[in-house]
Parts: sequence; structure tokens; C-alpha cells
Amino acid sequence: MDRIVLGISGASGTPLALRTADALADHVEVHTVVTDAAKAVMTHETDAPAATMDRIADASTELYAEDDFGAAIASGTFQTDGMVVVPCSMNTVAKLAAGFSDTLLTRAADVTSKEDRPLVVVPRESPLSEVHLENLQALASRGVTVVPPVLGFYYDPEDVDDVVDHVVGKILDRFDLPYDGLTRWGETE
Ligand SMILES: Cc1cc2nc3c(=O)[nH]c(=O)nc-3n(C[C@H](O)[C@H](O)[C@H](O)COP(=O)(O)O)c2cc1C
Repeated sequence: MDRIVLGISGASGTPLALRTADALADHVEVHTVVTDAAKAVMTHETDAPAATMDRIADASTELYAEDDFGAAIASGTFQTDGMVVVPCSMNTVAKLAAGFSDTLLTRAADVTSKEDRPLVVVPRESPLSEVHLENLQALASRGVTVVPPVLGFYYDPEDVDDVVDHVVGKILDRFDLPYDGLTRWGETE
């Protein structure tokens, strides 16, 4: 099948979303839904938000708006290998924990769960409140993989690009997809 749903929600992390889209597109069909809040965040995190959306569109087999409930990814009959939400806002984390399907992103995630397909979230907030942690715990207890974009230093990052690469590599690992930017412990000189 080789098809993954990419959800981009309104947490900080436009570079993470972009690089994940590009990395997935090297291997699979990418069906992308971007929330309105994510588009708003892009206006703060990139010099050219329209160009950023163009790049996401280029990497995507299909690009959907958050209110496009007729999209293929809104139905479980549309087969996929799973979904990743990167970055994942605490708003979206809460909705996923509660089973809300009020946007195409949350509907696609709900579908992914009900069809027993891999669901990965990359939650971005700091510090995390008790309710954030409770919601993440609820997701993890139901089999959702939580991949926080946390800093690591053991792989000797030189710049932010290296840090982004490491997180993207961790995401692709969840789908058994290779990513050259991931430095693996034990495989360095
Ligand atoms: C510049 C900017 C950065 C934001 N960063 C975060 C963040 O890192 N984490 C988060 O949970 N919400 C963040 N927010 C707030 C979310 O965008 C907001 O809660 C929104 O309702 C999320 O909607 P969505 O989950 O449908 O995308 C940010 C908002 C803006 C404008």
C-alpha cells in the first residue's frame, strides 16, 4: 500500500512538518491535512508561509483542508499504513484523547485508531501541564506512539537542522522507513 497520512496541527514546529513531509514522500504516498491553526503558526515561523504550503503540497500526493470531511482519509475504507501528527498541539492531543472528530485531522486520526493502524503523535509544548500529561498517557495506553521532539546530545548535533533530522528519523522509524539524517547509537565511529 505504501500510503501514510500526515497531520500538521498548530503547535510550533513548521520545520519538523516540512522535513517529515519530504522524508515520507521519498518512500510513500503522503496524504496531508493541515489545520487552520497550523497555517497561522507558519506565518510566525517562516518568512514565506505561502511558499511553505507550496512545499508541503509538492511533497504530498494529496493536500486537504481541515474542513474537507469528504476527503478519502476521512473513511476507514481508504487504506493507509498509518498516520503521524507532527507537530501535535495540546488541543489536538486533547481531542484525540477524548475521541473528537471535529476536523479532518482529528477524524483521520480517529479512523486510524479504529482501523487499528499505527498512529504517531509528536506533541510540542513546554512545560507540560497535568492535563497534557493525562491526555498523552491516555493516548499511549491505547497504543498511540508518542514521539516528543526533545533534545538529544549523544549524537553530537551541530545545529538545529541536525536536531530536526534526529526527530524526523525517529518518526520514520515508527513506520520502518529509512532516513539518512538519523544518527544511530553504535553505528557512529
Ligand atoms: C505561533 C504559535 C505557536 C503555537 N505553539 C503551540 C505549541 O507549541 N503547542 C501547542 O499546543 N499550541 C501552540 N499554539 C496554539 C495552537 O495553535 C492552538 O491551541 C490551536 O487551537 C491548535 O489548533 P489545532 O490543534 O486544530 O491545530 C501556538 C499558536 C501560535 C499562534
